[in-house]
Amino acid sequence: MSMYTSTFFDEPIDRIGTDCEKWDGLRQRENAELLPMWVADMDFRCADEIVEALVKRASHPVYGYTDATDAAVEAMLGFMERRHGLHLKPEQQLMLPCVISGLRAAVLTLTEPGEGVIVQSPVYGPFYASVRENGRKVIDCPLIREKDGGYQMDLNAVEDACQKGAKLMFLCNPHNPVGRAWSKTELLALWNVLNRYGVTLVSDEIHEDFAFEPMGITPMLALIPEESARLLSLTSASKTFNLAGLQQAVLFTRNQELKKKLADSLHRVGVVQGNIFAMTATEAAFRYGDAWLDGLIPYLKEGEKLVRRELEKRLPEAVFSPMNATYLGWMDLRAYGFGEEELMKRTHQAGVAFTGGTFFGSEEGFLRINFACPHSQTLNAMERLEKAIIG
Ligand SMILES: Cc1ncc(COP(=O)(O)O)c(C=O)c1O
Repeated sequence: MSMYTSTFFDEPIDRIGTDCEKWDGLRQRENAELLPMWVADMDFRCADEIVEALVKRASHPVYGYTDATDAAVEAMLGFMERRHGLHLKPEQQLMLPCVISGLRAAVLTLTEPGEGVIVQSPVYGPFYASVRENGRKVIDCPLIREKDGGYQMDLNAVEDACQKGAKLMFLCNPHNPVGRAWSKTELLALWNVLNRYGVTLVSDEIHEDFAFEPMGITPMLALIPEESARLLSLTSASKTFNLAGLQQAVLFTRNQELKKKLADSLHRVGVVQGNIFAMTATEAAFRYGDAWLDGLIPYLKEGEKLVRRELEKRLPEAVFSPMNATYLGWMDLRAYGFGEEELMKRTHQAGVAFTGGTFFGSEEGFLRINFACPHSQTLNAMERLEKAIIG
């Protein structure tokens, strides 16, 4: 019997004073003790197997230059095969400090100044910044919002963008903030459009381990096996196992020409894979983390139900998007008539912090909730949200 039951995840963990962005950073910035339901990291103890590996490595008192280990790569590829049916070879991966570095490197390497990169709003804010701050143009093909708050891709808009000369697309799979793991049919239809126009696809799959059903997400590389495909994906143990402070991610592609270009440009600016501890934790997570992850998923599913139930009860005019993946819920509060500034002010006054919708390029009136925390904390946040909106 695994120790990673709901009791494990129910246990609150005090992170104050660890310099974490989520609690300490927020308190410093807002000068208030807010309950943090914002940035995408989890308020759970990490798997004992990872802690033990880190403590063991830390107990050797020399921390000199260290290579990306074959053992970490082997563990990572084994995990991808086991959990996602994705078969990859060691030469098809490239270690990076974080997913954002991969997104930015792809923009710089695979497009020219002024060229267009397709994104699908609302989407993770740094997608826009990675394009704009590198002097390229965002071509937004907004997701289509349905009556129940669900979202679909607008493939006509994507095709139009391709016709207008877009060179690259950032896909979020599963999608942050709308919580959708795209289906095989949707992904294939998207790929067919991009492929017809020779547009390169960067699939950000950092949330791929948070599908509510086993094998509930399709990694693009599992769908498109051709070695010549202009396709790369980005993921990490850091999101799945809550190791973001260690800074380690990976880029996968079967296309060796693309890989070489990206490796060369990362090399030019001296960006290499992470450090001893990142490597140790990555290997332990991918090799021994399954039991922790298998305990986490049902807990997150319950967390999603809790948010939905509480929102229905406390704020019946709100719309909570249907979701099948991630621990990030998308709340439409437009019916209550507040703009983003007012929503932020009211939630902060009520003692809770969410991420405002405009961070994702959305219109005002939306909040994203991160419910990867003990259910007691989520419940507390929902009480505070009600107070913020209707007093
Ligand atoms: C879709 C998406 N991509 C990338 C990141 C950031 O990843 P990293 O910290 O590895 O740069 C996040 C973090 O929340 C995310 O949601």
